[in-house]
Amino acid sequence: MIIASRAEQSALGRRVARLAGARFSSLNIGHFPDGETNLRFRLGLKGERVVILESLFPANERIMEALFSAYTARDLGAKRVTLVAPYLAYMREDKRFHKGECVSAKVLGALLSAAFDSIVTIDPHLHRFKSLREVFSVPSKRLSSVPLIADFIRKKYPSSMLVGPDEESEQWVSNVASLAGLDHDVLKKTRYSSTRVRVSFKSSHDFNGRTAVIVDDIISTGHTVLETVKHLKRAKAGKIVCVAVHGLFTLDSYSKLKREGVEVHTTNTVPHETNRIDVSGLIAGAL
Ligand code: R5P
Repeated sequence: MIIASRAEQSALGRRVARLAGARFSSLNIGHFPDGETNLRFRLGLKGERVVILESLFPANERIMEALFSAYTARDLGAKRVTLVAPYLAYMREDKRFHKGECVSAKVLGALLSAAFDSIVTIDPHLHRFKSLREVFSVPSKRLSSVPLIADFIRKKYPSSMLVGPDEESEQWVSNVASLAGLDHDVLKKTRYSSTRVRVSFKSSHDFNGRTAVIVDDIISTGHTVLETVKHLKRAKAGKIVCVAVHGLFTLDSYSKLKREGVEVHTTNTVPHETNRIDVSGLIAGAL
């Protein structure tokens, strides 16, 4: 088996290859002056099972690279091509929110299913879709970083109170809470646009002086977490921490969170300086 990944994700790719007893091939990716992608595998792929490890963020560029990699691997003789997308983009676009709108999750599912033999991902944002089978027509595996996150929180913030900022985070926060043996609360969020959300805070728990750990799957613009932080400060929480699976940190969300004094930790599904929870063992175990 050969695991191939672009330079930015090669640390994870190499670790997964070592743990899975596979070889690692860097995937050289360059761009022509007009923005077109040039892609090259560094190892021979004939007769091999090839795993392309690529998080789909920034989405459009990475999706194109994943598709080009799959077709190139097959063209070079690979006998099976799997996509490991630790972060799977577009899963929040799971319905037609406005008339005439593209249901992007479905389109991405069709494109990837046409290119790959199988797909593996970690904590995809499945909300209205209950299973990846509704997204992909090829075999797919949904891995969960919840036990790793629970272990991290239990060791680092042993007497904290966990908070899910909205109903969609319930699946993560309640499982983390039960594995870590901690209390949790789930708040209510109303989203007005991609950059405007309101979180309402009604809690029966006392946060006064207590460490509050916000648990969510994705941090994108950071507004969901920042809104939650505002309430936790009013409730006089002591330390405020946020642990997320996928840290995208679009706009200047990470600086804003730091300015608010929030301690932020993420898994390494998307490379970022907040990566503290390693998913390589999880991925290797699934291959
Ligand atoms: C959606 O419900 C997700 O679970 C996250 O809460 C959301 O994607 C975070 O987005 P943002 O950081 O832009 O508020």
